[in-house]
Amino acid sequence: MLASKHESFAPELLAWFKQFGRKGLPWQKDRTPYRVWLSEIMLQQTQVATVIPYYHRFTERYPTVTQLANAKLDDVLHLWTGLGYYARARNLYKTAVIVSHDYQGKFPETLEGLMALPGIGRSTAGAILSLACQQRQPILDGNVKRVLCRYHAIPGWPGQKKVENKLWELAEHHTPAHEFADYTQAIMDLGATLCKRGQPLCDDCPLSKNCVAKQTGLQMTYPESKPKKILPKKSAVFAMIENEAGQLMLEQRPPAGIWGGLWCFPEFPEKADMHNALTKRYGLEALTETERDPFEHTFSHFKLMITPIHIKIRDRNNLLNDGKQVTWIKPLEKTRLGLPAPVVSILNSFYSEEESHNEPNG
Ligand code: ADE
Repeated sequence: MLASKHESFAPELLAWFKQFGRKGLPWQKDRTPYRVWLSEIMLQQTQVATVIPYYHRFTERYPTVTQLANAKLDDVLHLWTGLGYYARARNLYKTAVIVSHDYQGKFPETLEGLMALPGIGRSTAGAILSLACQQRQPILDGNVKRVLCRYHAIPGWPGQKKVENKLWELAEHHTPAHEFADYTQAIMDLGATLCKRGQPLCDDCPLSKNCVAKQTGLQMTYPESKPKKILPKKSAVFAMIENEAGQLMLEQRPPAGIWGGLWCFPEFPEKADMHNALTKRYGLEALTETERDPFEHTFSHFKLMITPIHIKIRDRNNLLNDGKQVTWIKPLEKTRLGLPAPVVSILNSFYSEEESHNEPNG
């Protein structure tokens, strides 16, 4: 008999978890809503091993939600540098401010209350309530979707509303009345360590006996992939403006939009726009201009081909102020600023690229 919708797999999963589940992850200690929330936001798009050092740094610097709310957004973005998906950090900060000001530093303990906060969806709210508030709530993150799609051979892409609704029904069905916190951690662990996307380790899986995908040899069919979309390509020029002191100019981007609030080289659609801005907007005269090798950066909705252009100027005192925040940094200097990944890589390779671009041709 293959999986019956009428029986929960919780007993098998919990027995497996007691022996093989991940224990001792930093957010499993002292499970407060603040600590669980922080870990869940960090883990939304990022693997456990990457998150751990960031989690330690955040909880040391900001032991409470009120301390996080009292921080400067720039410092929070800086501490987030390298984790990517910066909207998460901005929402983290917004939520900390709301919880600190409107809820006296205590997270609301209802699905609706949590889901009204920036960056908290239904699954994250469920995880916080289940792991930190002793409430039976299902979760449905990417790992859980994969487990359920395979176990029940659910057709369709899990991002589709109809499929997602079905998966929530199943998630609710399997969540036990007791030991739901262990269950929540267990199903995430199973998805991350055994029911992996690439090579599921079905021989070690406590659910394999009733897993329809395993029993029919179709583990790799489920979950079905998102219909492929070809990402549009855009291009941009980054002006690496260097002053006589060997510092590069960075501008703070507007709070909304791509890389909102992060510090970036001035960006232009085309070289001609950059030339225009250099004289008209910044009042700067270029002594030298060297084009560097273009490279591609992929966002969720498009690909950006970036051409960095290194411009040496004589005197930064001529810089006109057009209202944007501007700062100057040495390429390899430690900085507290939040920087997008391509800016970090340009800064890190600044001198090696410079050498290769200055090499004589023969
Ligand atoms: N992914 C999302 N939440 C997690 C957790 N609490 N432990 C491990 N991985 C996770």
